[in-house]
Amino acid sequence: MLRQVFSRLFSGAGRYAERPAGRRVDNTVKDTDSLKAEVGRGKLPLHVAIIMDGNGRWAQRQRLPRLSGHAAGGKKAEEIVKFAQDIGIKHMTLYVFSTENWRRPKDEVKGLMSLLVDMFERRLEDLVDYGARIRVIGRKDRLPQHVLRAIIKVEERTQANAKIFVNLAIDYGGRDEISRAAQELAKKAVLGEILPEAIREEHVSSHLDTAGVPDPDLVIRTGGEMRISNFLIWQSAYAELVVSPVLWPDFSGRDLLLAISEYQRRDRRFGSV
Ligand code: IPE
Ligand code: IPE
Ligand code: MG
Repeated sequence: MLRQVFSRLFSGAGRYAERPAGRRVDNTVKDTDSLKAEVGRGKLPLHVAIIMDGNGRWAQRQRLPRLSGHAAGGKKAEEIVKFAQDIGIKHMTLYVFSTENWRRPKDEVKGLMSLLVDMFERRLEDLVDYGARIRVIGRKDRLPQHVLRAIIKVEERTQANAKIFVNLAIDYGGRDEISRAAQELAKKAVLGEILPEAIREEHVSSHLDTAGVPDPDLVIRTGGEMRISNFLIWQSAYAELVVSPVLWPDFSGRDLLLAISEYQRRDRRFGSV
């Protein structure tokens, strides 16, 4: 009996074989329109979050400076938000700059900040017209003044929009965000506004930068690396993860559809059976 159990476990048969991570289908043969129609018939994730990785490698492969990769990545972000809105995604969170990215060479950081300001200022009216509501999550106390000003402007100018809600994670880190929430809760406890023993998950959630935003259903990382790099660590507790090998500047609407299609084939159990 015991031998049977072990041999089933180690041969990969039994429970694991009956429950693959997702149904395997060959999407590579489908054209984009039929993939779009198919994804449209399924249940869409309400919130898609993306770790937009691979700008540096993309540039390196073309013998361009890393900043050219970031510029291409910025354009790609706009394109993908539009595509996502078009297929009916309501919330998106894009990882733009992490709390750890300050460790990069000074010139790269400076270049990235300038690209951001440039994008916000140049494309502001388009974004307003487009109906995207932009919100920035992350620390706002370490950003250069000109970046902060551009952020405030884009947040204000798009605040009446509701076609798609876009959170841009800038100087964002999940651990930093949770620490700041803990500070806020501790302050309230000291003031007697909340009892420490009354603190629940909901209180933590509502003190995060993403308060009011539904948790991501799907987290996509481009560039092939299988790690979360401090992104939405609280909120993605039950998100489905899809890693795409495609470098971010090459990521297409079709690649987004492929990721959503994979998501739709997953069996989300949330700890149940
Ligand atoms: C992601 O691309 C963009 C940022 C982190 C700002 P990378 O710059 O990390 O690209 P790779 O990983 O080096 O290719
Ligand atoms: C994650 O990419 C951060 C962003 C995409 C903004 P990184 O390139 O910084 O992540 P690591 O260093 O490979 O984990
Ligand atoms: Mg990277």
